[in-house]
Amino acid sequence: MKLIKPNINYIDEIKTFKYGFWRNWRELHGSNQLARYSDIRSWIESTLLLESNPAENFVRTSTYMAIQNNKIVGMCDFKHSLNHPILSLWGGNIACCIHPKERKKGYGAKMLNLLLCECMSFGIRKVLLTANFNNIASNKLIQASYGIFEKEITVDDGAKYNRYWIFI
Ligand SMILES: CC(C)(COP(=O)(O)OP(=O)(O)OC[C@H]1O[C@@H](n2cnc3c(N)ncnc32)[C@H](O)[C@@H]1OP(=O)(O)O)[C@@H](O)C(=O)NCCC(=O)NCCS
Repeated sequence: MKLIKPNINYIDEIKTFKYGFWRNWRELHGSNQLARYSDIRSWIESTLLLESNPAENFVRTSTYMAIQNNKIVGMCDFKHSLNHPILSLWGGNIACCIHPKERKKGYGAKMLNLLLCECMSFGIRKVLLTANFNNIASNKLIQASYGIFEKEITVDDGAKYNRYWIFI
């Protein structure tokens, strides 16, 4: 597996990845809201801008496609700082998703491992990961990646999240 920044050479693969999700998806975690874009070129531009020059109230974020056998199997991002009330509480540094047909094959763990290497290359050594209390897969993925449980929190709408730290 390798992580690649979104680029126009992968437009067809990005479309295939996006439409491979269920019809009623609203969000593809870690994809800079790919679900909301009909124009893939605009999504690529917005993703690159989010890394180089984010809009006000957004933090610098790097987004990657996880490529396995020339196919996109997942997407992931990391926020370079937690300087935002949501990120510092329940959003965390990292978000990711694996294509529904590619789950439980170890790709999530591989992708997270590669993403942590990217974090390190930006000098980030302490990473906050959060998982909704009910999201078993996300909790398991973080635990399998040596996430250290900090605490459970409840946010305003009553949702519960587990907070974990990974020290690189
Ligand atoms: C969370 C997610 C990325 C995991 O991806 P994955 O490729 O299936 O994960 P892996 O195959 O690498 O599994 C990693 C660990 O989690 C466990 N796991 C994964 N899915 C699981 C599930 N549904 N139930 C129980 N355990 C699960 C695996 O057994 C493995 O643990 P182990 O090493 O102790 O055996 C994937 O389920 C997903 O995209 N979910 C939707 C988006 C999301 O919730 N993202 C997280 C929030 S940002």
